[in-house]
Amino acid sequence: VRNLFLVRHGETYYNREDRIGGDSDLTDKGLEQAHALAEHFATVRIPIIFTSNYKRTLQTATPIAERQDPCSIIALPEFNEIHAGVCEGMTYEEIRRQMPHVAKARGPNKYRYVYPEGEGYATMEERVHRGLKKVFFLNNYDENIMIVGHRAVNRMILSCFLSRQEEEIPYIYMPQDRYYHIQIDPHKRLFELVPYKN
Ligand code: F6P
Repeated sequence: VRNLFLVRHGETYYNREDRIGGDSDLTDKGLEQAHALAEHFATVRIPIIFTSNYKRTLQTATPIAERQDPCSIIALPEFNEIHAGVCEGMTYEEIRRQMPHVAKARGPNKYRYVYPEGEGYATMEERVHRGLKKVFFLNNYDENIMIVGHRAVNRMILSCFLSRQEEEIPYIYMPQDRYYHIQIDPHKRLFELVPYKN
């Protein structure tokens, strides 16, 4: 059985304001979460941590990697967060007020909806699969795997290991104080949502 630890980055300044997209830094709370993760995983061997290209995933992975000996961080653009196109940097409230057509169209069809000049869950599928292929290619078959990603991209990754209806995927719970522990077994798939901070 192989372990995949699927972690969402810690709190960012954008998260605090409910703003989407961008390349925001972790807040002090986000840094504390990263250090709590480092402590939590200190006795679990993780040779490589995969992240996206965004600062928030790299800043979360760095303290974890520092507690491992040795550990490399590999940033994969395939794990970048959903690109919200014209809505990047806006809050959900601003989208509702300034671009009601977006909020209206996305609501009932969140999986298939594609942001103007951006992406949708459905259009991310191919690149997320490509990223996972790279992960399995770069790790030895019996090693633990850690991916530090984002809300939407982690939902897509998780859905590759669980059977979920398309329309359920954009609503999978993806908190910042817990991670998904997925046990990859040829015969069964087990997953657990694990808190890392008291
Ligand atoms: O944490 C914010 C975020 O990662 C945004 O960058 C992204 O657009 C959003 O979450 C995805 O979640 P949802 O599909 O529920 O809007």
